[in-house]
Amino acid sequence: MSSLLTIESLTRQDIEEMIGLAGGFREVLDRDVPKVPTLVGKTVSLLFYEVSTRTRLSFERAAKALSADTLTFAPGGSSVAKGESLKDTALTLQAMGPDLMVVRHKATGAPWRVAEWTGLPVVNAGDGAHQHPTQALLDVFTLHRRLGALDGLRAAIVGDIRHSRVARSTSQALVTLGAEVTLVAPRTLLPVDLTEWDVATADGIDEVLGEVDVIYLLRIQQERGGGDVFPSIAEYVGRFGLTRDRAEQLSADALVMHPGPMNRGVEIDPAVADGPRSLVTDQVTNGIALRMAVLYSLLSGEGAA
Ligand code: NCD
Repeated sequence: MSSLLTIESLTRQDIEEMIGLAGGFREVLDRDVPKVPTLVGKTVSLLFYEVSTRTRLSFERAAKALSADTLTFAPGGSSVAKGESLKDTALTLQAMGPDLMVVRHKATGAPWRVAEWTGLPVVNAGDGAHQHPTQALLDVFTLHRRLGALDGLRAAIVGDIRHSRVARSTSQALVTLGAEVTLVAPRTLLPVDLTEWDVATADGIDEVLGEVDVIYLLRIQQERGGGDVFPSIAEYVGRFGLTRDRAEQLSADALVMHPGPMNRGVEIDPAVADGPRSLVTDQVTNGIALRMAVLYSLLSGEGAA
């Protein structure tokens, strides 16, 4: 693997190997000194053109836990305000000598271009509504830690699927590992063409509650127009929100996931988000270990300790 740009490039075996590797790094995070010298002398550059809390901090924490240095770029306060292009920004960062770039951008395909321009390994940390492969890997890693093999697991992904890079990536990872995925959304928030998704669909959350092992909620992507295609938030919550009453209809062992940021009271009730079924904070912690595994896989060739 020279870059991680899309979950589609990974076979079942690749994903299973990454889960195995992440399991080892997860133990490192529980140690008194949660750090290993594996990537001493390496530098990871973080190029984040879109806002981020979890993903950026998680990559930073992962790099540092492997003893790599980080070089972080955010457009606010940078020469982007003076008109500098993505290409010139990427080449400028490259000239500072990083070994890998992590890229988030609102344009589909931007991380591929950065990989071409710089020749460096690139990790896609989210490109528009397209892909978010490390989110998908941390999601299946989190489920695998809880449940073991995911063959036959029944998962529903509920919310703004059309504008969600997480839905695209996580559903692919789940299907690759043998899970059955149902997408639940208003018609207007489903992708126009689902032929390549290998998933079922449902028109309302009530249809799936009693039949799923995992329910994965998504935020409405207002910044991509997701809020413009249904009448009101109240109507949305009425058909798609995981309210407290609905959570009680889930099977006893069913788990609840969300990639964050959550809009409490819209797609998920606060009590459900903080309740015993919720894997939300596990997803965050496991995400560090998974990103350690990704950085390690891409950088552990010659020169790594
Ligand atoms: C998601 C993203 O940015 O794609 N968040 C994340 O990376 N954990 C989901 C979202 O913004 O809704």
